[in-house]
Amino acid sequence: MSANTNTFESIKAVLLSAHKHCSSTDKVKFYDTWAETYDQDVAVLDYRAPSLAANCIASHFSGERETSVVLDVACGTGLMAKQMRKHGFRCFVGVDGSEAMLDKARESGLYQDLKHLVLDKDPLPTQFAGSFDVVVVVGAMCAGHISFNVARDLFNAIKPGGCICLTTRSNPENLEYKASLDLELKKIEEEGLGTCLEVIEVEDWERGVLEHDGGYISGVVYLYKRI
Ligand SMILES: C[S@@+](CC[C@H](N)C(=O)[O-])C[C@H]1O[C@@H](n2cnc3c(N)ncnc32)[C@H](O)[C@@H]1O
Repeated sequence: MSANTNTFESIKAVLLSAHKHCSSTDKVKFYDTWAETYDQDVAVLDYRAPSLAANCIASHFSGERETSVVLDVACGTGLMAKQMRKHGFRCFVGVDGSEAMLDKARESGLYQDLKHLVLDKDPLPTQFAGSFDVVVVVGAMCAGHISFNVARDLFNAIKPGGCICLTTRSNPENLEYKASLDLELKKIEEEGLGTCLEVIEVEDWERGVLEHDGGYISGVVYLYKRI
C-alpha cells in the first residue's frame, strides 16, 4: 500500500463533492472514484464504525464464530470483515453497489463470495432468505445511501436466532433519515420479526467535514436479534 498523501482538507473536498450525487446509482459511482484511497482516507477521518459495530456484535453473539456466515451489506473495501476476523468470524459474503469498492474487497481475500447489487434498485437474491447468521450494514444506512426501507428485507435474510447490526449517523443532516429508520425498526419489532439487543449512541463517531460539525459528528450502532 502506498503512503497516503491526502490531508483532512483534501478528503473533506472529496466528500463535499459527493453531495451532488443524489440517486443511489450516482452515489455508488462516487465510491468508484474513491475506492483507491478509501481505507487510508477514512483512517484520517477517524472512522470507527466498523470496530464499534464488530465489538457490539462480539459482545452478544453466542454462536460458533468460525462457521457462522456473515452477510456484509455495502461491504466497501472490506473494513468490517477485517474487524470481525479479530473476533473469530471467518465466513463472509459481501454485496456492494460499487464495482471498484468490490475489487478492493476481492483483493483483501476475506470474502467467500462478493456480489454487485445496488440496493433500492436491485432486490436481494431470493436465495439470501433466512441464510445468514449475522447481517451487517456499516456506514451505508444514511441519507443519500441505502433507504431505511431495506432494513425489512435484511431482517428476512437472517436465520432465526441470528442477528443484524446497523449503523447510522445522528448529526443534524441525517436526523430525518434516522427518525425514519427508528420507526421502521420499531414496526419490525412490533411485528415480531426481531428484538432489540442494544443501541449504542456514540458522540465521537467520526470527524465531520461541515463547518458547523465542530470536530466530530455522532452516530449510532443498533443490534437486533431475529426471532
Ligand atoms: C462509507 S462506505 C462503507 C463501506 C464499509 N461498510 C465500511 O464501513 O468501510 C459506503 C458503501 O456503501 C455502498 N453503497 C452506497 N449506496 C449503496 C446502495 N444503494 N447499494 C449498495 N451499496 C451502496 C458504497 O458503494 C460504499 O462501498
